[in-house]
Amino acid sequence: MEKDIKDLKVLIDKDTLSARIKALADEINAFYDNSKSLTIVCVLKGAVMFFAELTKHLKMPIKMEFVSLSSYGNDFKSSGEVKSFNLNLPKLENENVLIVEDIVDTGLTLDFLIKFIKVKCCACDVRLAVLFDKKCARKFDVQPDFSAFDVDDKFIVGFGLDYCGLYRNLDYIGWFE
Ligand code: IMP
Repeated sequence: MEKDIKDLKVLIDKDTLSARIKALADEINAFYDNSKSLTIVCVLKGAVMFFAELTKHLKMPIKMEFVSLSSYGNDFKSSGEVKSFNLNLPKLENENVLIVEDIVDTGLTLDFLIKFIKVKCCACDVRLAVLFDKKCARKFDVQPDFSAFDVDDKFIVGFGLDYCGLYRNLDYIGWFE
């Protein structure tokens, strides 16, 4: 389906996003022992803006890792299959890991990644921070530990989230009415 930026409606503006992400970082700082390092795994490409904004406010020593995974093609719904483009992660024994993702929808992508990090990387503790929780679409048992916003069953773009590779650079969240 063809979409045009002029049909995009603002759902969450830039200042609301910044304030909520700062509050979420405060929750994360309060949850962890800030003297121990935390490995943050950013799920590319969608989490890139959220990851950059969130990590600026975190107080513990941080290691950054990046993976590329996708379950959406050029469509408004999940393909039902995880495509992995880069899952090069080190062993994470004795590490606390926080996965940072743009949105949890069916939960397929994160169910796969959480199991991978626990089983293959041997992390001692794996938690999940998401910018959006689309609870109504859930098919897998994935519960974010930290979530900035709930969103109902609409397709959103901006601040990292795309449609056909576009709109990731917007500093707000929009949706096509
Ligand atoms: P899941 O595996 O079904 O949970 O889908 C998660 C992935 O689907 C996210 O990382 C996004 O790439 C994509 N996704 C889900 N909902 C949306 C949306 O509303 N806008 C843009 N991408 C979305």
